[in-house]
Amino acid sequence: MAVRKMCCLPGDLVLRQKAKRVPTVDGSIRRLIDDMVATMQQQGGVGLAAPQIGVSLRVVVIQLPDEEPFALVNPEIVKRSGEREVVEGCLSVPGYAGDIRRSVSVTVKGWDRWGKPVRIKATGLQAQALEHELDHLNGVLFVDHVESPDRLRRVGTEAQAEGM
Ligand code: NI
Repeated sequence: MAVRKMCCLPGDLVLRQKAKRVPTVDGSIRRLIDDMVATMQQQGGVGLAAPQIGVSLRVVVIQLPDEEPFALVNPEIVKRSGEREVVEGCLSVPGYAGDIRRSVSVTVKGWDRWGKPVRIKATGLQAQALEHELDHLNGVLFVDHVESPDRLRRVGTEAQAEGM
């Protein structure tokens, strides 16, 4: 496992690309997943998408507080319900937080680190993290969901909302 360099706005254009589907989950994808988990943990984040370390592939990892990390390959949201307002930050947009709307719950399907199909129903922070990471795979960042400039704030790095 190796901690990789983070890609950040404004310079890293990989964050704005649509990531490619993974054809098969092999050892190189599992190494990518392990490096993503190491990088997310080093950054103290609850989620990370492959484009955030410069790899334009559809792979995300999530780790909620006091839970084990897990990976999803080629994830897709198949259902969303409810709406709530959250304060959100992003490891690739350091120093900012915004008030945006996210779903209350989502159902996501994809593959696990062994290429086995999985389906996850998530609520709360897990649903928020999944929506955030899946946005990254389409080149979308939380700042795109901020409805007006006064809803985006500068924050100290210590006071950062859960990084994703
Ligand atoms: Ni992010």
